[in-house]
Amino acid sequence: MAGFFDRIKGSFTALISPFKDGAVDEAAFGRLVDWQISEGTHGLVPVGTTGESPTLSHAEHMRVVELCVQTAAGRVPIVAGAGSDEMIEAVFRCCIEAGERIVISSPTFGMYSFDAQQYGAEVVDVPRREDWELDREPLLAAARDAKAVFLPSPNNPTGNTASRELIEELLETGALIVIDEAYIEFSEEESVAALAASGAPLVVLRTFSKWGGLAGMRIGYAVMPEALAQATMAVKQPYSLNVAAEVAALASLQDIEELDERACTITGERNRLAKALRATGWVEPWPSDTNFLFCRLLRSDGATVREVLRRRGVIIRYFDSERLRGHIRISVGTAEDTDRVIEALAKVAQELGAEA
Ligand SMILES: Cc1ncc(COP(=O)(O)O)c(C=O)c1O
Repeated sequence: MAGFFDRIKGSFTALISPFKDGAVDEAAFGRLVDWQISEGTHGLVPVGTTGESPTLSHAEHMRVVELCVQTAAGRVPIVAGAGSDEMIEAVFRCCIEAGERIVISSPTFGMYSFDAQQYGAEVVDVPRREDWELDREPLLAAARDAKAVFLPSPNNPTGNTASRELIEELLETGALIVIDEAYIEFSEEESVAALAASGAPLVVLRTFSKWGGLAGMRIGYAVMPEALAQATMAVKQPYSLNVAAEVAALASLQDIEELDERACTITGERNRLAKALRATGWVEPWPSDTNFLFCRLLRSDGATVREVLRRRGVIIRYFDSERLRGHIRISVGTAEDTDRVIEALAKVAQELGAEA
């Protein structure tokens, strides 16, 4: 499976970065962090003391991230923020006027509609087909009539990836295409980030939340054409990215191999769990390119299964919508987590059987 940097551009070559010959250049990394800290007005606050936090300007934050993410083809225009959620909002702030249309394909991640509401945009939903694939013709038609299209690839919660062919067709419609690659490190599919870097009307959202396990730190970024990156920088909150998140992200970048290995372990566990779920005869997982399994229940409903599992200490996601009532989403973790889920589901089956 391709690693983190391969997802951005195919092959990673360090130009000015703490990476040399595929390994971390300790001296360069130290200089980078020193440089980052010394640009602050007070330096880093020692752990366990109180004091004023260092403040870096957004341009400085950006530079640190840019220094770490380079491509063989040159610089990738990147704007970083407090999670990719902030970058979704930045797209609205920068590109979408009140009354304009954006397109989504439900079921999907909720933040696009949330931000649309905040910014007075109209949401046009082109629901996914029964097999959860994107509905090509209606989607292209809606895109031709919209300002932007927001698609996670892989999608949350269905776990499947949009085809590159369809993304390329969408890029011809005239709408700004936003491809949210929050889960791409768990997929066999290639990132489309290089297309954004080459000037296509495309924003590719990435995050350290899933692959890097840094959801609580809030750091993500968007790859976009240079002109759009500059416009986004002009409207984005200048101090939203905090130093702790940035240091954690840099530490993740220093540990790419380890994190890519973890992603491989997770996908291995995902496949093992999928097989075990299929064997239950009543929990049917859809194919997944992510770190979760979206499952159809052949007995009971999501809310009931969630409640029975919760009593056994296993938390899963259920959905309170007509179309998804018979579905659950199970996050994949360690081998022990997989065993625990399998064991708990076997007990749930007994319990549900007894109730029936
Ligand atoms: C598709 C998708 N995009 C973005 C996010 C949020 O990412 P971040 O933590 O970087 O804001 C999520 C979180 O669940 C997600 O599912």
